[in-house]
Amino acid sequence: MAILIICDDRDLTPWINALKAIDHNIDIRIYPEEGDIKEIEFIICWKHPYGILKRYPNLKAITSLGAGVDHLFADPDLPLNIPIARIVDPELAQAMSEFVIGLIFNHIRSLSDYIQLQKQKTWKSKPFNIARNVRVGIMGMGILGTDLARKLSVIGFQVSGWAQSKKELEFAQVYVGDSDLPAFLSGSNILVCLLPLTPKTKNILNKKLFEQLPDQAYLINVARGGHLVDEDLMEMIDRKKIAGAGLDVFRQEPLPLDHPFWEHPSISIFPHIASITNPISVAPQIIDNYKRALRGQPLLNKVSVDSGY
Ligand code: GLV
Repeated sequence: MAILIICDDRDLTPWINALKAIDHNIDIRIYPEEGDIKEIEFIICWKHPYGILKRYPNLKAITSLGAGVDHLFADPDLPLNIPIARIVDPELAQAMSEFVIGLIFNHIRSLSDYIQLQKQKTWKSKPFNIARNVRVGIMGMGILGTDLARKLSVIGFQVSGWAQSKKELEFAQVYVGDSDLPAFLSGSNILVCLLPLTPKTKNILNKKLFEQLPDQAYLINVARGGHLVDEDLMEMIDRKKIAGAGLDVFRQEPLPLDHPFWEHPSISIFPHIASITNPISVAPQIIDNYKRALRGQPLLNKVSVDSGY
C-alpha cells in the first residue's frame, strides 16, 4: 500500500513532511522512483506524463495537487474508472481573493503607474475610481469565485457572477449560462476569469466576448492560459476597447521570452502565483481521501468526469 506523488515542478519535501506528520506510517513514493507498481493505490498528481496513470493495476483514486484538474483530463489515456478528487481549501480561496483584490486596486488607483512616476521623480496625480463605482464580473462562481464575490461586496464593489447553474447569493447577482452572458458582460468594468478549463471554456476570452464588455474594461485571468486568445486581447487593447490586463496564467508556462505580453505596457505578468497550494493546509484532506479510497468510500471533493471539474 503506497501513495505515489507525480509532480516535477517543485520541491516535494514539504509535501512529504506534511503528509507524514498526519500518519508517519504511510509509504510515500515520488515518481519515477515508484518501486513495485502493484503497491501504488493512491496518486497525488500535478502535470503527469500522459499515459502513465493506467499502468497501476491496484490504483484506487487520484487527487490533483491543486484546485484545477484540467491537467488530468488533458491526458487522452486517463483511466476514467478511477475516481478523481481535487483540492478545495479555504486558504487557497483566501489567497486567490487577496491577489485578485490587490490587482483590482492596483488598476483602479493606478498604483503601478505611481511606482513608474517615482522612478522619474514626477509628482503627478491620476484620475481614480472608488469601489462603489466599479462593477466587477466574475466568470466562474465555484468556491473561489464565490469567496471573491463575497469579499469584494464587503469592500463596496458592485459584484456580479456568471455560472453554469442558478445560484442565489445576497452579495452578488449571478447570471446563468450562455443566454445571460451578454447581460453579464455588458455590466462588467473589470472581468475576472476563475473558470475551470474544459472543452466548453477553452478560448472563451476572445474577441467576440471582449466586444461585449463596456469600453476600457480591465481583464484579470487567474484561471488558465487556455481560456485566453492572446492575440485577441492585444488587438482589443490596441483598439482601446480593453484598458489592460493582469495575467497570472499562460498557455505556455514559464511564458516564453519572446512572447509579446512581456513588453506590453498595459499587461501585467505574474508567474502563476495567485494562489499556491499549502501542503500543511491540504494534507489532512489528502490523507482522508487516501483512507476513503482504501475503504471504498466516496472521495471528498470528487470531480465529475462529465463536467471536467
Ligand atoms: C493552480 O493553478 C491550481 O489549480 O491549484
